[in-house]
Amino acid sequence: GKNVTQAYRASILYFTNDPAFDSQATVWHEDGVLIACDGKVQAVGAYAQLKNTLAEDVVIQDYRGKLLMPGFIDTHLHYPQTDMIASPADGLLPWLDKYTFPTERQFSDAQHAQEVARFFLDELLRCGTTSAMVYCSVHPESVDAFFTESAARNLRMVAGKVMMDRNCPEFLQDSAEQSARDSEALINKWHKNGRQLYAITPRFAATSTDAQLKLAGELARTYPDTYLQTHVAENVDEVAWIKSLFPKARSYLDVYDYYGMLRPRSMYGHCIWLDEFDRSRMAQTQSAIAICPTSNLFLGSGLFNFDYADAQQVLMSLASDVGAGTSFCMLKTMNEAYKVARLGGTHLSALRMFYLATLGAARCMQLEGVIGSFEIGAEADFIVLDLQATPLLARRTACTTSLEELLFVLAMLGDDRAIWATYAAGCLVHTRVSSDS
Ligand code: GUN
Ligand code: ZN
Repeated sequence: GKNVTQAYRASILYFTNDPAFDSQATVWHEDGVLIACDGKVQAVGAYAQLKNTLAEDVVIQDYRGKLLMPGFIDTHLHYPQTDMIASPADGLLPWLDKYTFPTERQFSDAQHAQEVARFFLDELLRCGTTSAMVYCSVHPESVDAFFTESAARNLRMVAGKVMMDRNCPEFLQDSAEQSARDSEALINKWHKNGRQLYAITPRFAATSTDAQLKLAGELARTYPDTYLQTHVAENVDEVAWIKSLFPKARSYLDVYDYYGMLRPRSMYGHCIWLDEFDRSRMAQTQSAIAICPTSNLFLGSGLFNFDYADAQQVLMSLASDVGAGTSFCMLKTMNEAYKVARLGGTHLSALRMFYLATLGAARCMQLEGVIGSFEIGAEADFIVLDLQATPLLARRTACTTSLEELLFVLAMLGDDRAIWATYAAGCLVHTRVSSDS
């Protein structure tokens, strides 16, 4: 290692637990300093206490007046759908047919895939998202393109090849056997290659035969430390379709359960139309939910109920679900999550929303201590937030009287303009041009 020490002075926020259930979970240093060495957190605390521990030659980057926190983690989105974001349809299934499948077809072209992956990752960093769980397309080339670009930026990303062998256009269909072989080759090539992690990715039960789901479950058992991601119970028409395709299953989730796909490090997108038994199975198996509010409102899929999930203590995280989601920005995702919770009778605190987008997501991914917090030794992925990014933000944040109020205002009024700088593994990977305000 090069043993390069860097120090950042700012107001510092991170979590050690879920603030909804633990009043000691929030760490806040009004005048704090983060010390990173070789891309890892070496120390964090009050500036007054830590300044004397710094060698004289260490330059302190001065972000006073700004808020420094772990980078956001987006646990569900589709990079091939970047160019079809904001395409309206009257529900999930027509939207898939009309926009998604034709758009994903283009990712058989490795050069196209690379160009989109570049834009996509730059956009995530511009929005302060430093880690994500990403769906590629059915083409193995799309996975190589994504991980190549992620590795070039030294980002911690989880991604995988979509598996689908029925109920989709022929030009996007793989086969059960070929999809398992391709996925296995990609696992061997990319899983734990630097910061890259692989997710076994059957798109959803409707586009996989029993044979393919069986092989996906077997892969998950053969490679227990990989990730697994899919969609479940997003839309009522989709749920009815699954019931007709799998008449013997107790529920939609039960299809995945039957094939051994409920396990730690599995991430289920949406989970709106689950029942109590489904939620208890998710909790028992340490399967996690990716809550996608902008997508669910955009497609009219339904309202996720936070109280039901909390009643069973199911692992939860927030996600954009771009391209059905309408923003890459986790602040905007929080904004709509708050309103979705409100309609379900839940008050979602700002502390909890910021937890869900950082440590909460890391816990879903069993990456606590690696990303999502400033625990000593964690990877130094962090963002600097500008509380004066817009005239309204400046005016409204100036008159807040608590951390909860400040974060709530940020979640309601903030967007990508509030991301002043983004760091990955201790390196600056995005900075907002000052003339942009
Ligand atoms: N269900 C199956 N595929 C998709 C997809 O690409 N986006 C969303 N939102 N739901 C899905
Ligand atoms: Zn999705």
